[in-house]
Amino acid sequence: MPHPSRLIPPHGGTLVNRVLTGALRDAARERAQTLPRIPLRRSSLADLEMIAIGAYSPLTGFLRRADYERVVDEMRLTNGIVWPIPVTLAVDEATARALKPGQDVALAEGERPLAILHIDEIYPYDKEREAREVYRTTDPNHPGVARLYQQGDYLLGGDIWLFDWPRAAREEFPDLRLTPAQTRRIFAERGWRQVVAFQTRNPIHRAHEYIQKSALEIVDGLLLHPLVGETKPDDIPADVRIASYRVVLEKYYPKDRVLLAVFPAAMRYAGPREAVMHALARKNYGATHFIVGRDHAGVGRYYGTYDAQRIFDEFPPEDIGIVPLRFEHAFYCRSCGAVVTAKTCPHGPEEWLHLSGTQVRAMLRRGEMLPPEFTRPEVSRVLVEGMRRYQGHPSPNVSS
Ligand code: ADX
Repeated sequence: MPHPSRLIPPHGGTLVNRVLTGALRDAARERAQTLPRIPLRRSSLADLEMIAIGAYSPLTGFLRRADYERVVDEMRLTNGIVWPIPVTLAVDEATARALKPGQDVALAEGERPLAILHIDEIYPYDKEREAREVYRTTDPNHPGVARLYQQGDYLLGGDIWLFDWPRAAREEFPDLRLTPAQTRRIFAERGWRQVVAFQTRNPIHRAHEYIQKSALEIVDGLLLHPLVGETKPDDIPADVRIASYRVVLEKYYPKDRVLLAVFPAAMRYAGPREAVMHALARKNYGATHFIVGRDHAGVGRYYGTYDAQRIFDEFPPEDIGIVPLRFEHAFYCRSCGAVVTAKTCPHGPEEWLHLSGTQVRAMLRRGEMLPPEFTRPEVSRVLVEGMRRYQGHPSPNVSS
């Protein structure tokens, strides 16, 4: 069995762990009671969890100004390490004025303190510039840009220490919420040297299965890693998506070659830059390869179909470390009787089955099963059932 330390090194070389335990945790918890409290919104709670467990290694806290500027401009931290998306903590002006650099504050979920932030810097930033550089658009209809525009005008930079878990970390998918240290241990125990990770925010369909299994042919194991943090309201809720994974894994995947775990991050819909962040985070979980298909982490028509693949060419491979596995758009071809891509199929579009996300959602809302060539019937049933459960309820995907 390879020792976990023989697996791929984490990004930046060291797996960060900012989760306090034992006496240190008790002391921090007590101290936090005396500190000013900053309530975090859901996406920041997810960032806090990601930093604390080392999924965002080498980050040990929220970005300081010089790192922020360089990440926005050049996709690198000041030490030169690749980092494509600012992980920041925004507060409004009144909160910023009441705080001072050098001070500790308690980061809270509602009233409940969870972590201590040592504030190194409090700084203003240019949201439009961040939108343009990171999201490639300043359109407020873009869900990531919208979240950026809604947040406070000042950023708090500094290291964090977590002493209590956010509610989601305790209650949502506890059996699948593996930390990078845990997935690394499992890979080592299973003797997997090469592991391909798959990011998704959608229910599993045939094209997903095709690219996952194609990738699995050339490595030892598959880390199925659905994102379960905040998504846009019309995405399928995480519990329905996870249920869809559980049914196909049970029947159609070899148990000893697949690990299903959840990725607690919020979606940013930043397309190419988010694809790089998704890849680096999966390296931290111990994956050596990362699937990037069509319009990875995209939304609407903001990004070209393969922009999220091309961005990897902007970096020397050793600066990324994990290998992107680029997949063409996959779909079902009636003549081939199989899932194919334009690379592998000689037929034309009249033979190809395409369904947009909007069409799929409309069918599910009407209680219709999706075509079996598009989605396995077991999955359709889970989705129809899930949509029925959520009909008429506010989306569970977003909260303030
Ligand atoms: S994402 O926002 O997480 O990227 P999604 O869950 O749809 O969305 O996609 C997960 C991964 O599968 C991404 O790498 C995406 O590019 C890829 N993908 C999804 N559908 C297809 C498809 N039909 N053909 C090729 N790749 C796909």
